[in-house]
Amino acid sequence: MNGAALLSSLRCPVIPVVMIDRLTDAVPLADALLRGGISALEITLRTPAGLDAISAMKQAFPESMIGAGTVCSKQDYDRAAAAGADFIVSPGATDALFGAADHHALPFLPGAVTASEILKAIEHGYSVLKFFPAETSGGAPAISALAGPFPGVSFMPTGGITRDNLGTYLALNSVSAVGGSWLTTKQMIADQAWADIYAEAVETVVQAEAIKTGDGQ
Ligand code: 3PG
Repeated sequence: MNGAALLSSLRCPVIPVVMIDRLTDAVPLADALLRGGISALEITLRTPAGLDAISAMKQAFPESMIGAGTVCSKQDYDRAAAAGADFIVSPGATDALFGAADHHALPFLPGAVTASEILKAIEHGYSVLKFFPAETSGGAPAISALAGPFPGVSFMPTGGITRDNLGTYLALNSVSAVGGSWLTTKQMIADQAWADIYAEAVETVVQAEAIKTGDGQ
């Protein structure tokens, strides 16, 4: 499976970006999101519990798509693959990351926001790219402008996306999914607010479906 197949397989084109501090939160958090209709999660490696959280979620929900995010080195890449990650996301891209990706049969979504970064990703064979940080890199208008010279590229923007601006991104043909931490904020996880996370997932799924079918924002 490549990045394009991964994103087109999602029931909902929204990927929560999750930071787990306590390993015991991993399974109930994933349960709330998956029951709410979300089908893929990006667990960042920004916390020491990230890798174990991926393994715990995969064990509890083998059918779900659990990816690793904030993968910034070959070592991160190898560890995330060993932990059972279904896909790999990086905020940017380096030769070391492209090299690591060649050694694993996992979908890889490298980060790119400039024309030169996009060209480099294309040279390495990637056409589905993370666009981060989306809002401060020009947001939806920037992605729309980049679709001109790069009609074959599809983006997964993250960074500053919420339910308020979700529609401006998902309305673009060049956006196949969006990501963000608004469904699982630090406070929600600290409070173990699984019911709130479930409710946010349900609302987000409904909103995303309405946008993709042209019924609203
Ligand atoms: C990411 O890694 O994709 C971002 O940190 C998510 O950004 P957000 O917290 O602004 O949603």
